[in-house]
Amino acid sequence: NGYRVAVVGATGAVGTRMIEMLEQSNLPIASVKYLASKRSAGKILKFKKQDITVEELVPESFEETDLALFSAGGGVSKKFAPEAVKRGAVVVDNTSAFRMDPEVPLVVPEVNEKALYRHKGLIANPNCSTIQMVVALEPLRKAFGLKKVIVTTLQAVSGAGNRAIQELHDETEAVLKGEKYEPEILPVAGDKKHYQIAFNPLAQIDVFEDDGYTHEEWKMIHETKKIMSNENIQVTATCVRVPVAVAHSESVWFELEKEGATVSKLQEILKKAPGVVLEDEPDKQIYPQAVNAAGKKDTFVGRVRPDQEQPNAFHLYCVSDNLLKGAAWNSVQIAERLHALDLLRVPK
Ligand code: A2P
Repeated sequence: NGYRVAVVGATGAVGTRMIEMLEQSNLPIASVKYLASKRSAGKILKFKKQDITVEELVPESFEETDLALFSAGGGVSKKFAPEAVKRGAVVVDNTSAFRMDPEVPLVVPEVNEKALYRHKGLIANPNCSTIQMVVALEPLRKAFGLKKVIVTTLQAVSGAGNRAIQELHDETEAVLKGEKYEPEILPVAGDKKHYQIAFNPLAQIDVFEDDGYTHEEWKMIHETKKIMSNENIQVTATCVRVPVAVAHSESVWFELEKEGATVSKLQEILKKAPGVVLEDEPDKQIYPQAVNAAGKKDTFVGRVRPDQEQPNAFHLYCVSDNLLKGAAWNSVQIAERLHALDLLRVPK
């Protein structure tokens, strides 16, 4: 008794974390199916102690599936997510393929769980850097309203997949040995030029738009407005890839609508906020760090302080595991909430 679950992209950086999150979840699971490209077919991965053979993804993979978690790239989702829904599976898609579709809920459970009620079989998981920012800002928005956000991200290479993690390792070793290394993945596998990430932050994540913003920055701007259901929140972003394997860090400046906020009031709110751990004791040198956040499901928040010049404006610094809250955990959390709300079925 339980759900028949398919993981699409099961061999990838996010897919392997999805498997771990499913193993830890209290979601009733009857069976799992691991799907990837032809290259991985036949590979054996575990679910709890069981051996599961990875299968090549085809439309028929979704016959007899209740829940499909997708993280194999936007192209794969565009082609196969509708095939899964057609066969009766509820899809939680971690790619950007359907995020801005007005018919598709874009959900961070701590922020807009109610959007799940209007799903038509497909729910989108937001971009990793957007998720942790809205987890940190939502409780403050609820208390004081949110007028404007300026964010700069320091994002881990694992957001670009397993090959990017390998590139960071190999390139760092080569640079330390004084050897030549030809980057092939970062900043963006599909773009024309590739640059050194070892010891070298790159101010490009995803491709450039005509307006000079990268697509990652575009996602942070538009996904934030959609998740908070407020087109009037002013958001702007600069997204930077840094030589870190796991966990994104973000410097967030925000202006509140209402007066009366103080650092201690904001800290009190954050202390109680779902999904947030406050790490903010400058006198003890306590603030969030990527190495501490990696492997955890929470968003760690610190460095809360007022803008020195502008009233009602503050800074915070947040850090979260981009593969967990930014991707795999948020997806499995959505599935858990769908189950709790009796929504884990495709509406007729
Ligand atoms: P595979 O391992 O067979 O290439 P990452 O984000 O770490 O790069 O992982 C991407 C995931 O998406 C992997 O599991 C990869 O499988 C899977 N994938 C990539 N392309 C396809 C495809 N065309 N069909 C199915 N799975 C794919």
